[in-house]
Amino acid sequence: MLQLTINGESRTVDADPNMPLLWVLRDLLQLTGTKYGCGKGLCGACTVHLNGTAVRACSLPVAAAVGGKITTIEGLSVNGDHPLQRAWTEHKVPQCGYCQSGQLMSAAALLARNPTPSAAQIRDAMSGNICRCGTYPRIEAAIKTAAG
Ligand code: FES
Repeated sequence: MLQLTINGESRTVDADPNMPLLWVLRDLLQLTGTKYGCGKGLCGACTVHLNGTAVRACSLPVAAAVGGKITTIEGLSVNGDHPLQRAWTEHKVPQCGYCQSGQLMSAAALLARNPTPSAAQIRDAMSGNICRCGTYPRIEAAIKTAAG
């Protein structure tokens, strides 16, 4: 049994320590807001926070998250009222929506460490999150809005 802290709650899971955190979240805990894209740490769809830092849940063995604080899109805010979520709505960012939870988690980690990023810093921080619909301009605009 492994003890995890997810979105402020203590959760116990019966998982192989090498199981990627993504599958623990999705298959064992039904936290399906975190998405599977490439499974190789390349697309960012599975981005969550571990101790406030953006990590790729598809490439992180669950054992590496034991003792840390995991935040998923379900725990980013209460009732979707994070400034980034409000800005995402205002700018109508998503198209198909599949990558957007990962985009939001990367953006939230960026603003937590740099509340007023430049355009170049936004692009650099978000460069690991792929969007096949090409919503990048709206993502950048929404991050600027949330940053105020
Ligand atoms: Fe994890 Fe693509 S699914 S980076």
